[in-house]
Amino acid sequence: MKIIFATGNKGKLREAREILGPEYEIISSADAGITEDIPETGSTFQENSLQKAEYIWNKIGMDCFSDDSGLEVDALGGAPGIYSARYAGEGHDFDKNIDKLLHELAVLDAKALIAGEPAPERTARFRTVVTLMINGEPHYFEGSCEGRISFERSGNGGFGYDPVFIPDAYPDQSMADLSEEVKNSISHRHEALVKMAAWLQEK
Ligand code: IMP
Repeated sequence: MKIIFATGNKGKLREAREILGPEYEIISSADAGITEDIPETGSTFQENSLQKAEYIWNKIGMDCFSDDSGLEVDALGGAPGIYSARYAGEGHDFDKNIDKLLHELAVLDAKALIAGEPAPERTARFRTVVTLMINGEPHYFEGSCEGRISFERSGNGGFGYDPVFIPDAYPDQSMADLSEEVKNSISHRHEALVKMAAWLQEK
């Protein structure tokens, strides 16, 4: 099956191709001629995910899917959440986003120390909402991956916040330390895309 993935994120594209396997020919939005940034003005993962898939459908009328994802850190009240890609500004710089995240958590640790309280938990999760747009009808598939935020970066794999995300399934390694194969077997994206593939097979 040939299908467009509404993303310009090379990490997401690589992972979706590996998770869905050779049965699916996944074409990026750029390969389908859509090179502009697709607007993301919603206030939830689902709204943004729908917005991306609708944009492709309205522009070229082809079946597609999108992924709106992000990192939720409990001690930060769920931030960066839907702002994960632009946490440190519109430059969408993965490195600056990690710097800001570690800084925000260090500030909380310092405040707790001064108050004589225990340092806050560093529990977090990746979440995604995949929207599959078939004949103009949206279908949603969610995935999440629980873990915690480390104090420093480790590993070169993956993308985004992977160097500081320690998944519960592999508590001694960051997501960026894991092989692509292992990350793709436990990730939020894996959970959502496997649900999407099962739905497509049943349809
Ligand atoms: P968006 O879905 O394009 O708005 O951006 C998602 C952002 O969330 C990415 O730019 C990353 O910062 C972060 N993110 C989503 N999935 C992952 C992942 O699998 N690993 C690391 N960071 C991720």
